[in-house]
Amino acid sequence: MRKQQTAPQASFRHGTAVVMYVVAVVLLALPVYEWVLNAVPFYADPYDLPTALFNLPGRLFALVGFVLMFYQFVLGIRLPAFEKVFKRATNLRRHQTLGKIGFTLLLLHGVFMLSYDRALTGEFFFDTYRIMGITALILLIAAAMAAWHFKALKLPRKVWKTLHLLAYIVFPVGFLHARGLGTELATSRVVDVLFITLFVLYCFLVAYRLYTVVRDQSRA
Ligand code: HEM
Repeated sequence: MRKQQTAPQASFRHGTAVVMYVVAVVLLALPVYEWVLNAVPFYADPYDLPTALFNLPGRLFALVGFVLMFYQFVLGIRLPAFEKVFKRATNLRRHQTLGKIGFTLLLLHGVFMLSYDRALTGEFFFDTYRIMGITALILLIAAAMAAWHFKALKLPRKVWKTLHLLAYIVFPVGFLHARGLGTELATSRVVDVLFITLFVLYCFLVAYRLYTVVRDQSRA
């Protein structure tokens, strides 16, 4: 249970929470804004239906889904600094809700991108970067399904937890895939720098998580 807080402590906590919300919204808004800059001229004078129906919406899903996926690590890793501002139960609830939204967006991204290739050329392509995307999506499906349906699937805690850790592979594979193929990443310095920053922060979060695992094992 959280200790009773003094008024200055409560107001500091409130102020920090507001800053965190603003940062979270800005990080999501930046790629969306860059996407809008590319999408508006296209939709004003569209030159093909597959791009309008599949490529542009699919790119938007990927950009938002990827940032939401980054939030999943921040919310799930139990950072002490973060838990001083938000309750652990709140972080977990948000981890679950944002996880569902991010997963749905990335699933739609994959489906839309495959549909785009097919609608435009009549074929599917399996180059290295697309295979990375497909692999990331398959791993993500396994990680999400294990966490959501472990009761129905009768998965022991250790098994579903291990499967859920596949998400740690999805993020770097998705990052490399996005850098190899993404239009917004290729055309917007802001989005490219943002994604590299998220990736570097993700590496720090992984290092911190590994440190806590080793620390907890040596205490046990
Ligand atoms: C079936 C699976 C997938 C396929 C076929 C696929 C395909 C593609 C393609 C073709 C692009 C380039 C779009 C363009 O700019 O024209 C792209 C971009 C991207 N993909 Fe995927 N992808 C898949 C899964 C994923 C997953 C699982 C993630 C995240 C973990 C992801 C994240 C991204 C991101 C962030 C972009 C950059 C969007 C942009 O810069 O506009 N993709 N994907």
